[in-house]
Amino acid sequence: MRLTAAPLVALATTFTTVATAPAKRAAPQGIDVSHFQGVVDFAAAAANGVSFAYIKATEGTTFVDPDFSANYNGATTAGLIRGGYHFAHPDTSSGATQAEYFLAHGGGWSSDGITLPGALDIEYNPDGAECYGLSASAMVSWIKDFSDTYQARTGVFPVIYTTTDWWTTCTGNSAAFASTNPLWIARYSSSIGTLPAGWSFTTFWQYADSGPNPGDQDEFNGSLQGLKNLALG
Ligand SMILES: *[C@@H]1O[C@H](CO)[C@@H](O)[C@H](O)[C@H]1NC(C)=O
Repeated sequence: MRLTAAPLVALATTFTTVATAPAKRAAPQGIDVSHFQGVVDFAAAAANGVSFAYIKATEGTTFVDPDFSANYNGATTAGLIRGGYHFAHPDTSSGATQAEYFLAHGGGWSSDGITLPGALDIEYNPDGAECYGLSASAMVSWIKDFSDTYQARTGVFPVIYTTTDWWTTCTGNSAAFASTNPLWIARYSSSIGTLPAGWSFTTFWQYADSGPNPGDQDEFNGSLQGLKNLALG
């Protein structure tokens, strides 16, 4: 993820009072990776406690991650529950167009118990205007167009990856997706903090951008069976 705003503040607080050992996190652990990590050793990650992975597939309608296939296949071979994610560029084409592009390049879903719903990574614009120059209502419409298109094609709503700060600023803190789309919040802290409007809980939490495994560090809010259920739809 190209998360730029949240400060990396709280790694120290993830340590227990036993000074030598990091706190064991009970929830299923995951990672998210892109070509920035290259081709990842998922067997090693699995041996090191990782249960799931999100792998970057696409960005806008012009970029397919060159390591997507190798990473997706590697995660599959390692027995991980995995899915793809799409980095949104709401300033370049419609939500429907970008959902179709994502679906055509690895973002698909099937109810096989190992495929997570595709994730829409919608966050700080790496290249330009805040909120990609869209009004809050136009941003909500764009996300709805993406989400509805994905749902119509796959049967499941995409996971929404964002930060509470970005969502508040750029969607006007819309509650329109809370009853349909699983939430994946990025917050690099010892607690997840305030969630966007509507959602009473998060499904995934990206809690650090580095750690014991490659890429960003994530956890699933639930049990391993709950994670498998999400992959069943
Ligand atoms: C995790 O999910 C449960 C409901 O299943 C919820 O009560 C709890 O607040 C969630 N945790 C977070 C951090 O959202």
